[in-house]
Amino acid sequence: MVIQVVTLFPEMFSGVFDMSMVKRARLTGRLDLRVIPLRAFGVGIHRQTDDYPFGGAVGMLLRCDVVVPAVEWCMMHEKTPARVILTSPQGRSFTQRLALHLSRQDHLIIVAGHYEGIDERVRLLLQADEVSIGDYVLTGGELPAMVMVDAVSRLLPGVLGSDDSAKDDSFSRADGWLEGPQYTRPVQYRNLSVPDVLRQGNHRAIAEFREEMARQRTRARRPDLVSD
Ligand code: ADE
Repeated sequence: MVIQVVTLFPEMFSGVFDMSMVKRARLTGRLDLRVIPLRAFGVGIHRQTDDYPFGGAVGMLLRCDVVVPAVEWCMMHEKTPARVILTSPQGRSFTQRLALHLSRQDHLIIVAGHYEGIDERVRLLLQADEVSIGDYVLTGGELPAMVMVDAVSRLLPGVLGSDDSAKDDSFSRADGWLEGPQYTRPVQYRNLSVPDVLRQGNHRAIAEFREEMARQRTRARRPDLVSD
């Protein structure tokens, strides 16, 4: 899969994209990740990328005659058709389901929005989807772009240690529950010990215990996920 991230701040991506699961996805060859500097497509001698909104409003907007050519450049440099995503607090919610759907695409172009937003014509001309990572406002789309790349790359086949690891993640479980608590060594710490059932090797009892814990935790923390 190819992901191109178009951004005013390419430096912000180096640490995150060179570590951990994203790095592994790149090394396995499953992910070809490129960061494209939007400034290179800026207009005029100052390579301007933003301007004042018509009609008066606070802040600046990314210009369509900068963002559209940048995305078209990305499209031209890859063989497979791309799905274009604009990061925006007004977008549809980024969920595990959307991450899974995106992980099955061949080519994504993520435009990290900045300032107060992007000229509406970008969305219309590129048939782009606006995507939000949550109901809060960040100063820019770089962190949302990193969040999406991270969540998508770990779902690419062969990237996690076992293809089963992603299945038990909270939000990926077929039953829609959160994962329950987990324990590792030591068995006893301060006055807290690992539940006996997890150490007794009865796989059926362990599965039942985990299911009950997942159910209780989901009820307590995310009642919106529980149907009954
Ligand atoms: N840009 C600013 N806030 C955002 C959010 N919550 N999600 C996506 N893009 C954003």
